[in-house]
Amino acid sequence: MKLRIFVTSLRTFAGPGYRPPLLTSMALHNDLSHRRRLLSAWATDRVRQQESFQAELIKARRIVVLTGAGVSAESGIPTFRGAGGFWGKYSATELATYGAFVRDPSLVWTFYEYRRATVLQTKPNPGHVALAETEAVLENNEKKLTIVTQNIDGLHQRAGSKNVIEIHGSLFKTECTKCRKVEENLQVPICDALKDARMPDADNEQLKIPEEQLPRCGSCGGLLRPHVVWFGENLDEEVLKRVYQELGSCDLCLVVGTSSVVYPAAMFAPHVAARSVSVAEFNMELTGGADASNYLFLGPSGKTLPEALAPLLKALQKAENLVF
Ligand SMILES: NC(=O)c1ccc[n+]([C@@H]2O[C@H](COP(=O)([O-])OP(=O)(O)OC[C@H]3O[C@@H](n4cnc5c(N)ncnc54)[C@H](O)[C@@H]3O)[C@@H](O)[C@H]2O)c1
Ligand SMILES: [Zn+2]
Repeated sequence: MKLRIFVTSLRTFAGPGYRPPLLTSMALHNDLSHRRRLLSAWATDRVRQQESFQAELIKARRIVVLTGAGVSAESGIPTFRGAGGFWGKYSATELATYGAFVRDPSLVWTFYEYRRATVLQTKPNPGHVALAETEAVLENNEKKLTIVTQNIDGLHQRAGSKNVIEIHGSLFKTECTKCRKVEENLQVPICDALKDARMPDADNEQLKIPEEQLPRCGSCGGLLRPHVVWFGENLDEEVLKRVYQELGSCDLCLVVGTSSVVYPAAMFAPHVAARSVSVAEFNMELTGGADASNYLFLGPSGKTLPEALAPLLKALQKAENLVF
């Protein structure tokens, strides 16, 4: 499979004239000198490769965009595997389990309420906005863009995206532990007792809220939990079915800001590539996701996404203006 590279702010390593060889996934992932050669190839081949991606983009009728925490990094929301993966003395992964919720629902709700409040203070970045604008323009042209996101921050929707499948749930939905009802909830604080939810540190004693004062179900009175998929839990089958329908019918796939280590999301791009459909990865670094990719855009997605999508937006908006 040929790998095409677009790099934003990266030094190049070798002289001109080099063309990327055919790659196997192992070669890409394990061979650093190969990676360097690929980066240097960008310096000499950039225009042709941009044209090739743009040609596919303009022809595509159904685009699927898989996003992860990296797409929200420039909005100020830390990624899981970045430095912000800790919450006070707790590892975020330790708090995001059903076991943690059963042991200490007050602690887990405080963690989620703090995240809800923090996320509501952030704004969608130009990467989110470019995707939302592209979806709208494609829709006017009887084409479709669907976002399949691992994020739970709701920023795609706040940017204006409508076709969003949230495979790991949402910070702004609750689920009743008794009657299983799922409801949207944008209220912060979600209940009086959580109004002081803050990051625990030396000066900041952890809240110990009795269960009766934590968020309760309006229908049956049961304890509510955040409607997010925790570590060790399965993804919703109906949601997965919708994802595979989109993956099975798309003719171009973009993978943005994900480390491609969380399953089953890590398998989505390989699933698309197995049908010989092109995949473009947008990331700060080469990840396992690049194994399935034909195109690679290295750099912050708040810059690379708008740049990559601008020619399509311009072409379609121009076409719209010609229709009276
Ligand atoms: N915003 C959120 O909702 C949020 C935040 C943290 C974690 N999570 C959850 O954690 C899990 C982590 O998996 P993941 O793969 O989504 O995240 P991850 O933290 O494992 O990986 C983030 C990826 O984004 C890349 N990245 C960082 N900044 C970027 C930028 N500006 N532009 C482009 N790429 C950038 C990194 O190189 C990395 O590969 C997911 O299940 C997700 O639900 C969600
Ligand atoms: Zn209930």
